[in-house]
Parts: sequence; C-alpha cells; structure tokens
Amino acid sequence: MRTLSRSAVRAFYDRLGRGLDSQAFYENPALDDLVREGDFASARSVLEFGCGTGRLAARLLATHLPPNAQYVGLDISPRMIAISTRRLAPWRTRVRLEATAGSPLLPAADASVDRVIATYVLDLLPEPEARAFLGEARRILTPGGRLCLVSLTFGESGPSRWVSRIWMALFRLHPILTGGCRPIRLAPLLDPAAWCITHRRRVQSFGVSSEVIVARPT
Ligand SMILES: C[S@@+](CC[C@H](N)C(=O)[O-])C[C@H]1O[C@@H](n2cnc3c(N)ncnc32)[C@H](O)[C@@H]1O
Repeated sequence: MRTLSRSAVRAFYDRLGRGLDSQAFYENPALDDLVREGDFASARSVLEFGCGTGRLAARLLATHLPPNAQYVGLDISPRMIAISTRRLAPWRTRVRLEATAGSPLLPAADASVDRVIATYVLDLLPEPEARAFLGEARRILTPGGRLCLVSLTFGESGPSRWVSRIWMALFRLHPILTGGCRPIRLAPLLDPAAWCITHRRRVQSFGVSSEVIVARPT
C-alpha cells in the first residue's frame, strides 16, 4: 500500500507544527492507557521515535519518570524538534532531541534503553520500515525493558467501523488527506519469538480506534 515518502512526511509535519496537538482529543485516552501500563516509574532511559511536539514526553518527565531518567526524542520534522525543544526546556539536562532523516535505525547501543515508545507513528510507515523499527527496538531494549506502542487501528463495530472505513478510503485516495496515517494492526507485526505482549487494548474515542501495546523482549 502506498504511504507518504519521507520528504512528504517531513513537509506535512513541518507545516502542521503545533496543530498536531489538536489531535489530542482522540489520542489522549489511548495515551492514558499506555502511561498506566508502561511502568515508567522504573525506567531510567527512554527513547521515543516520532516524538512530535513532545506532549507525551513532557507528561512522562513531569509526573511518571524517576528524576534521574534520561529521555531521547527523534523526529523526521525539524519543526517538531524545535517545538519539543521549547516544551521540554524545563528538563533540558535530561533530554536529547534529534531531527533525523527518517531511518528506522535507532541511535542507541544494544541493550541500553528501558522504554522504546512510538505513538501514532508506525501507522505512517511502510510495513517493512515498521518491522525494521521493531527489530531495532528489540536490539536496544534492556532485557527487562518494554516496548510501548500506540497506533490507529480498525474499528470493529458501530460508528468506529465507519470512521476507519472512511479514513482508509481517504488514505487510498491520497495519503496526504490523512496526514499519511492509516489504521493498522500492531500485534501481528510483533514476532512472538522476539516479543511477549504483556498488555494489549483497543481504545475508542470519538469513533477513532487505537491499539495500545506494551511488550517485553523474550
Ligand atoms: C501523528 S504524529 C504523532 C506524534 C506523537 N508521537 C504523538 O503521539 O502525538 C507522527 C510523528 O512522527 C514523525 N515521523 C513520521 N515518520 C517518521 C520517521 N520515519 N522517523 C521519525 N519521525 C517520523 C512525524 O514528523 C510526526 O511528528
């Protein structure tokens, strides 16, 4: 299935800027679930792929992570990195933000990170890149670490089924119409030989369905 090129993704999110936060109304219930289930209180190092405006990072740093935990945020959009740099300034000594070329290769050593986060990002990527990211997440997570994912997914009943059908129809017309995102199924992307899923939930908000996954390396 055709997805947006990296340069189109960068241009879209550079233009969108702070407007990205307007999606919080449907994203927050799924992010709340992830924050509850991700055991962030025991994490000393966190890497977020596609950190956007730094909304989730600010919440984790302010209330959930231990005071000495380090955070790394990566994003393909330099504008997102500029916005998150301002938002995360109160924690600047513990935060590193990096504008990337969009590669799923993660700039961290093997077994060095306690939490790898990607929220509403894998639903933008071509499947082989999503799988490459998951391979990288597996490589950099510590043995007791956790992979923390949220993605758009397919609604299964009532209005949410219609919302995801319309979403897919727009995406097929042109991915730019949905900011490059489309509903996907996360769980089948996780190789059972590499991951043990410890939490999986479908969360619906305003008719939009999200899949939340927390997994440990096997
Ligand atoms: C829908 S937004 C989600 C942002 C944030 N994670 C959230 O939940 O609010 C997708 C973000 O992923 C970034 N992104 C998309 N493709 C990327 C890639 N290949 N590498 C790094 N960042 C990427 C975009 O620039 C954007 O900031």
